[in-house]
Amino acid sequence: MIDGRRVRSNVVASQADLHEPFGGVVPEIAARHHLGTVNGVVDRALADAGVSLADVRAVAVTQRPGLIGALLVGVATAKAIAYGAGLPLVMVDHLHGHICAVWLEPVAMDPPFVSLIASGGHTRLDLVRDLATPQLLGQTIDDAAGEAIDKGARMLGLGYPGGPALERAAHGGDRTAFEFPIALGGPSTRDFSFAGVKTSLLYTVRDLGPDGMERARADLAASYQEAIVRPLADRLVHAAREHEVPAVAIGGGVAANGRLRELIREAGDSAGLAVAMPSMDLCTDNAAMIGAAAQFTEPVAWPDYLALDAIPSAPPGGIAA
Ligand code: KG4
Ligand code: ZN
Repeated sequence: MIDGRRVRSNVVASQADLHEPFGGVVPEIAARHHLGTVNGVVDRALADAGVSLADVRAVAVTQRPGLIGALLVGVATAKAIAYGAGLPLVMVDHLHGHICAVWLEPVAMDPPFVSLIASGGHTRLDLVRDLATPQLLGQTIDDAAGEAIDKGARMLGLGYPGGPALERAAHGGDRTAFEFPIALGGPSTRDFSFAGVKTSLLYTVRDLGPDGMERARADLAASYQEAIVRPLADRLVHAAREHEVPAVAIGGGVAANGRLRELIREAGDSAGLAVAMPSMDLCTDNAAMIGAAAQFTEPVAWPDYLALDAIPSAPPGGIAA
């Protein structure tokens, strides 16, 4: 529940425990869990904000892209609530949500800025001159950064979800101990590639053998983390200078990574850029960011949205804003 830039409540029903035994998200389990929790989450969002449905001006929901089962539960629920209350519905793009999270308080960033979104499914740079129409500058040509992190964490025998586990394992490790390839050249490249670094970790772990890997785990984790987050930081800051904007912003689950935040802070400071980093709960998937993007998305009037549906794919160009 948001009120302008103010987050009045931001309820997240985490499913990490349910998927942990499988080492990744199981789509059918995700959808069924959504179905079981969604009404309670809506009730709590209203209660935490201290409002009732009568105080609400519009309902926002993620329409795309994502796992279709989970999206369908959200869209059907949002349509029912909006229809019943006579409210407009705003169909939001998930990536647009991540980009708009920095618009919320306390960060309250306004354009222009360059945005880096790095999550389990996406890695992209956008030039944001206005929040309604971010312009794609570059993206991953293979794995998303979070995907490479999760798979690397698994190769190192760390837990699920991989991001926080890899970060913990990297503490105290030497990030220069192993040299993993940084793909697609220097900081002026706008695209990303993480398949090569992932394969390189696989071969290194195989060559070290189980005991060697165990002994070198902290160094492997630190070096691997560095090979993924350094190009993210370098290319973000480079893009801001190239487009002559005064600020950079980050979002998506990988933006919770402490080493990435440190590198961006350092590079941003030395380039004289303002750096917007939302708190962890606004970086990982959350409801408030969808409310933020809804402010920059055309609402669908009552009851026209009843014919609209969830869409699993991203549109060409990346964001339906
Ligand atoms: O945005 P998000 O919550 O969900 C998606 O839309 O994908 O991002 C999840 C991704 C996962 O790959 C997870 O391992 C990664 O974000 N992640 C992290 C950290 N926390 C979450 N990666 C690195 N360091 C972290 N601390
Ligand atoms: Zn996300």
